[in-house]
Order: sequence, then structure tokens, then C-alpha cells
Amino acid sequence: MKAILCKAWGGPETLVLEEVASREPDAGEVKIRVRAAGVNFPDVLIIQKKYQIQPALPFSPGAEIAGDVLSVGTGVMHVKPGDKVVSFCGVGGFAEEVIAPANVTMPMPPGVPYPLAAIFSLAYGTSWHAVRDRAALQAGETMLVLGASGGVGLAAVEIGRAIGARVIAAASTDEKLAICKQHGADALINYSREDLREAIKRESGGKGPDVIFDPVGGKFAEPAFRSIGWRGRYLVIGFADGEIPALPLNLPLLKGASIVGIFWGEFAKREPQLNMKGLAEMMTWMREGKIKPLISKSYVLADAPQALMDMAARKVIGKIVITP
Ligand SMILES: NC(=O)c1ccc[n+]([C@@H]2O[C@H](COP(=O)([O-])OP(=O)(O)OC[C@H]3O[C@@H](n4cnc5c(N)ncnc54)[C@H](OP(=O)(O)O)[C@@H]3O)[C@@H](O)[C@H]2O)c1
Repeated sequence: MKAILCKAWGGPETLVLEEVASREPDAGEVKIRVRAAGVNFPDVLIIQKKYQIQPALPFSPGAEIAGDVLSVGTGVMHVKPGDKVVSFCGVGGFAEEVIAPANVTMPMPPGVPYPLAAIFSLAYGTSWHAVRDRAALQAGETMLVLGASGGVGLAAVEIGRAIGARVIAAASTDEKLAICKQHGADALINYSREDLREAIKRESGGKGPDVIFDPVGGKFAEPAFRSIGWRGRYLVIGFADGEIPALPLNLPLLKGASIVGIFWGEFAKREPQLNMKGLAEMMTWMREGKIKPLISKSYVLADAPQALMDMAARKVIGKIVITP
């Protein structure tokens, strides 16, 4: 079977497509024919040894997939060969086949196409855990989303809207902001053109947002935090900008505000039932038309390096998918 391989730490251009031996699953594992794999920013980081998890070389990136079960290891009862499944495999998804742990593999929701099933868990799971579970965003509150047209950003915009909050989307281009508006944002800030603090003040009626969702970090974190409302919750999602910001601790004191760290992969492992509750709630919202995940582009397996280059170059809107 063919697989995209990371054989040495480096950027997406160092990835190679190779024929590799197929193996059978061990106990507690499932072998899956990959039909679609979601692309996420952590895939860009993991191949450069810049992610929390560092797999042994060589490995295939690709954290989440949808596909068909080929075979199961001993002890696996909840899925069988021929079943359509989704899996949060962590790595290995950019390949024709993946061996995934059974405990992160579940039956695909009926009627959902492979690409949509593949891109849903990580981005929407992260944003639900952050916005609904950790920040407990309420109807009528205001949430600012930075990097709002990206994978987790656009998911946060939709979730905020589904909850009934007022959502302020901030992004770097008007094209990206137009997509945020289509997906439910009430107000828009172009942070490559406007002063972020002034714009937040204007769009939150001088009060400051109750919740700030930040997957970008870098130079926007401090001005955003300085603008947060009383009892605000600042969600630390990631650092797509590349720089991990440092905040003076007098700022949360002055606003009675919380800094809330988010690590979805660990949450999904430690609290699988709550994670499933979140995914189920969002499936309901999807059926009701309250959320409409955007897959803006599909790439064949050989173009997976290009997909990661596009993501690193800030060219992606919503979600992108690899279809082997
Ligand atoms: N904590 C968790 O559990 C968790 C889970 C998933 C992802 N994450 C993290 O969340 C972040 C976003 O992930 P994603 O999959 O949503 O990525 P994405 O789709 O590429 O979105 C990232 C957004 O960040 C903005 N950005 C600003 N500076 C950037 C730069 N130098 N390079 C690339 N993007 C830049 C871009 O929007 P503008 O151009 O509009 O600024 C882009 O839309 C990443 O840091 C990722 O590691 C964390």
C-alpha cells in the first residue's frame, strides 16, 4: 500500500510517497482502508518535531480518518470487517491503509459522507470542548474568534452561533471574513488592516468579549486579552503564528478573567464519554442546519505535501481533506 512518509524531521516538502508493507492488526487494533483523511495544523507541526507528540521515524502524518474496516485484532468487538468507521488515529492517516487503536475508532454516523466524517472529530471536537465545555459560553454572551476562517476557528464561529451567542470573527483578509459571515459571524474584524483593540471595543459595545477563542497566539494575544470583558474566559487553543505569547499576570487579575488551556487529544482520551456527548450534540446541530462544516478543497494522496504547504502558508479556508 502507498503512504506519505516523514523519514526525517522537516517541512512538508521533505515528505515522500512510498510503497510500504501492509501488516495485520495486533490485539486492540483495527486495520482500515482510508477513504478520506482530515488535514489539521498539528500535521504541519508534527513532521517538524514541533508538536507535543513526537512519533518514531519514519511515520505517516494524518490524525483523523474515515474509511472501511479491513480486519480487526483480537478483543475488538464494536466494529467488524466491512464497517464504515471514523478514527482519531493520531498519525498514519495519510496512507491507503492505517492501523488504528480500536478505542479511538467508532462506527461512522449513518448518512454522513467519508470526507465530512473524516474532518469532523478534531476541529469540531476541539472547538466544542473549548467553547461549550470549558468556557461554558451562554446565549446572549459575546465571543471573539481569532483565526476565525481556519479549521478550529470556523468551527468555533458555528458553535458559538448554535449556542445563541454573538460572534465576532477576526481574520487576515476580507475573503476569509466573508466566509465567516456566511457561517454565522455577527461582526467582522480584519486584523491585518484594523487596530485590534479599537475594533474589539467597537464590536463589543465597549464591554469586551466574554470569551476569546485564540488558535493564533503571537502578537494578537496580548491586545486581545487586554480587551476581554469582566469574568472573561480566554481559550488558549494554539499558536499558528509560530510564537507562544507571554501575558503579564496582572491582566487576568484586573478583569477577574480566566486563562483556559485546551488539549482536545488528551480530553478525548481522558473523558471519552463527554467527547462523544459533544460530537453527538454537534451531529444534531448539523441535522438541524445550525452548523455546516466547510470542506474547501480535496487533495489526492500524492498531493498531501501540497496540502500541508497550503496550510502553513495560511491559504486554507475551513477544512481540507486528503482522499487516497
Ligand atoms: N488545543 C488543541 O487541542 C488543538 C486542536 C486542534 C488544533 N489546535 C491548534 O489550533 C491552531 C489552528 O489549527 P487549525 O487546524 O485550525 O489550522 P488552520 O486551519 O490553518 O487555521 C489557522 C489560522 O491561523 C491564522 N494564522 C495566523 N498566523 C498564521 C501563520 N503564521 N501560519 C498559519 N496560520 C496562521 C490563519 O488565519 P488568518 O490568516 O486569518 O490569520 C489560519 O486561518 C494550530 O496552532 C493548531 O495546532 C489545537
